[in-house]
Amino acid sequence: MGTEPVPAEAEFEFRVEVPEPPALEATEEDLALGAALYTTHCASCHGDGAVSDSEFSDLRYSPTPVHRSWNAIVVEGIYATGGMPAFKATLSTKDAEAIRAFVVHQARLAYETCNAIDRDAEPARHQSLCTRVLPGD
Ligand code: HEC
Repeated sequence: MGTEPVPAEAEFEFRVEVPEPPALEATEEDLALGAALYTTHCASCHGDGAVSDSEFSDLRYSPTPVHRSWNAIVVEGIYATGGMPAFKATLSTKDAEAIRAFVVHQARLAYETCNAIDRDAEPARHQSLCTRVLPGD
């Protein structure tokens, strides 16, 4: 009584919701190119359709600073030491921008779907479609 064992490590889970994606103008051609390039070069780690629940980022959740640094991350490879390869040899800046357009498109679909879900009525669906555990330590 009064001496409930305390878990050695409290299990906190920080979940973030799919953010409002950045504004982006893209043609159908850009989107088609971006989708194809994404499937070939990115899906193996970041998931089909830019949907990921693995240890690799779900890019639909990437915040604005990541979008601003997209070319540096994807083409130049500034995160290469963290396992995010540089695509300098295979993708141009224009290719990377088409992939970004596809990712933003996927993010927008998710954002719209999530705004339409009644999270009180469907908490499990909302959690799985609209939230991710925040990566960190
Ligand atoms: C071999 C696996 C792998 C492949 C293939 C890969 N990535 Fe990554 N990517 C990573 C890892 C690891 C990170 C750093 C940790 C994380 O964010 O998951 C990362 C991070 C990123 C980030 C930063 C995300 C954020 O929110 O901080 C972006 C953007 C990104 N990748 C885009 C791409 C794009 C675009 C492609 C395809 C051209 C691609 N990645 C292919 C492994 C990969």
